[in-house]
Amino acid sequence: MDVYGIIGNPVEHSLSPPMHEAAFRERGIDAKYVTFEADPDRIEEAFRGAEALGIDGLTVTLPFKHDAFEFADPDVQIERVGAVNTIDFTESGPVGFNTDMTGTLRAFEHHDVDLEGARAVVVGAGGAARALAFGFEEAGADVQIANRTESKAHDLADEVPDATGHGLDELPGLMADADVVANATSVGLESDESVAPADAWHGDLVAFDAVYKPLETRFLQDAAAAGAQTIDGAWMLLFQGVDAFEIWTGEDAPLEAMNEALRDRLDDDSQQ
Ligand code: ATR
Repeated sequence: MDVYGIIGNPVEHSLSPPMHEAAFRERGIDAKYVTFEADPDRIEEAFRGAEALGIDGLTVTLPFKHDAFEFADPDVQIERVGAVNTIDFTESGPVGFNTDMTGTLRAFEHHDVDLEGARAVVVGAGGAARALAFGFEEAGADVQIANRTESKAHDLADEVPDATGHGLDELPGLMADADVVANATSVGLESDESVAPADAWHGDLVAFDAVYKPLETRFLQDAAAAGAQTIDGAWMLLFQGVDAFEIWTGEDAPLEAMNEALRDRLDDDSQQ
């Protein structure tokens, strides 16, 4: 039997176990997906222990994505991102990936959104914004970063080739000329607020929200009301898991089964 898992702290409410269990079941792979709540002071030992125990792969969540980057050999693509959310324990050692980044790009592809040459605004400058900004840049988009603390937007923009940094006051102006707007702040998480003014939306935009609780955030509701296309945060979760599954097993992920398991769990959670 193969053993995979998610390591984080806290991790008990993770949506990854039902999604990966459904994938293994659907593909007839004899594997378990376990939840590991690691002690932040002993994270390096935890990674080494997982390797020594012969664990096959790990999903890494907060606050350990940078530790995972230090531990596992990052694949070249993510050297700049500085965060690893998927470890593949191979015969030649642990290899790190950032499927938050690659998965989000697949979520856009799945929705027929072409990022090549698109003007993409990332709102936020934390970990989620980093993955999105580097991902969009890699996909050929022209990236603009807007953040409440403007200096952090400039710091991130300095790292992403050709990106520009802005304060939130400039967001409406950026949106007027943009093709894609992505919320990578925590605004809207379990609240009815949006980081973007409702009247800044227009029908030529694609809105993506990394927040998935609730699924229909105020940000996405305002976007839809203005006729914009919307992509909710569950798609990012789904495709980061899809990419991880494919890295670990070398098989095509069962998209439908994973999506159903993920959305069932999100529905259950929202009814609690
Ligand atoms: P994560 O790693 O999930 O991205 P983070 O690093 O804590 O989380 O980043 C949170 C992001 O949400 C930041 O860009 C933060 O803006 P600041 O850099 O100014 O703190 C943004 N954010 C949080 N609350 C916000 C609010 N009420 N209005 C606007 N932006 C907010």
